[in-house]
Formats: sequence, C-alpha cells, structure tokens
Amino acid sequence: MALPDPRNHRTPQHPIEPIFWRRWSPRAMSGEPVSRAELMSLFEAARWAPSTYNEQEWRFLYATREGAHWKTFFDLLLPANQAWCARAAVLIVVASQRVFSRNNKPNPVHTFDAGAAFENLCLQGSAMGLVVHGMAGFDNDKARASLHVPDEFKVEAMIAVGMPGDPADLPPELRERDLPTDRKPVSEIAVEGSFWK
Ligand SMILES: Cc1cc2nc3c(=O)[nH]c(=O)nc-3n(C[C@H](O)[C@H](O)[C@H](O)COP(=O)(O)O)c2cc1C
Repeated sequence: MALPDPRNHRTPQHPIEPIFWRRWSPRAMSGEPVSRAELMSLFEAARWAPSTYNEQEWRFLYATREGAHWKTFFDLLLPANQAWCARAAVLIVVASQRVFSRNNKPNPVHTFDAGAAFENLCLQGSAMGLVVHGMAGFDNDKARASLHVPDEFKVEAMIAVGMPGDPADLPPELRERDLPTDRKPVSEIAVEGSFWK
C-alpha cells in the first residue's frame, strides 16, 4: 500500500504552488537507504534559506542507518518516535548558533532562521519523493552531551528522513494518524493591522 495522497486530504483556499500542500510528515518508511547524493540535496536546499545578516546559523548533524553514529542518534528519540523511526534511513539533529559570528552578540532570530532552513529541507525532500519528518520528541540535553554541541548553539529539533514505506507496517495507533492534515483558514492566522484574539 502506498502513502496517502495529499490531494485527497488538502484543498488550498488560495492559489499556491503545489510543493507547499504536497509536503506532509508521513511516518511510514521502508527502511531502504537514502543515497548520499539525495541527502546532500536536502542540505543544499537548506543552505539557500534566508537568514538575518545572511548568518546561516543552522547546523545539521546526521547519522545514516548503516553508519557508525546511528545508535547514538536513535537513542536520543523518545520511544513514541523510535517506534516509527526504526525504518528511517537518516536521522538529523538541527542546531543553531545563538550569537552572531561577527560580534558574539545575541541573535534574537536564530531559531526562526533554523526553521526556514528546516522547511527548505522538507520541501526538497518532498519534491524528491522522500519522507521528511520533523521531531521535538527527543532528549535535548542528551543530544547536546552525546554530540558535543557547544553552549553557544541551541539544539532545535530532529528530523527523520527515509524512503516511503507501507503504512500497514506501522503500529495500529500510528497507522490511523498517518494522514495529511488540514490547516486553519487564512483568516485565523493573518489580519490587517493590530493583533486580535
Ligand atoms: C518542530 C517540529 C516538531 C515535531 N515533533 C514531532 C514528533 O516528535 N513526533 C512526530 O511524530 N511528529 C512531530 N512533528 C510533526 C508534526 O506533528 C506535523 O508537522 C504537523 O502535525 C503538521 O503535519 P504535516 O507536517 O504532515 O503537514 C513535528 C513537527 C515539527 C515542525
């Protein structure tokens, strides 16, 4: 069985490029490897994200399932994520530098910029037919310690990347949730003028 088609679950309210609504976060992966060339295309896409002063403060640490670092990365995940990430091909930890490299002063938008890079990576992976799934469900302190992340960097999130798999192979409680979701209407997220409730 193939992954669900976002076309059957999502209808944009306004005209947009299909890359945006076609991207979603499946959990069903086959366990097959993702090539190094494909992986580098994901990071290449991330590289072109906008950032304050072109700071490019995002950093990506990764482990492939065949590589020496897989267990270290996999052990960072909470059990709920381990349940489906066992069939991922690559696990990525995203970090961002809290201070500007040119003057060491706090950068108030480092997380915002890392988020832009994350979305570029997601859109590229989706366009390539890969599963790309962001995760906050991991032990942040353990990631910092076991991957030797310096204090001036914040550990932001993890990302699972893999080849699409059969949703039937997921545990039953995840299988039901593994569908493209809808969104709030534009009127709930954007307004002309001051803040509203
Ligand atoms: C920063 C971040 C953290 C997330 N953490 C998890 C997670 O720990 N486990 C999980 O299964 N999904 C996680 N997700 C996936 C979200 O639940 C998903 O992106 C959201 O429901 C919207 O669905 P879509 O990505 O399919 O459009 C995370 C997504 C983001 C961006």
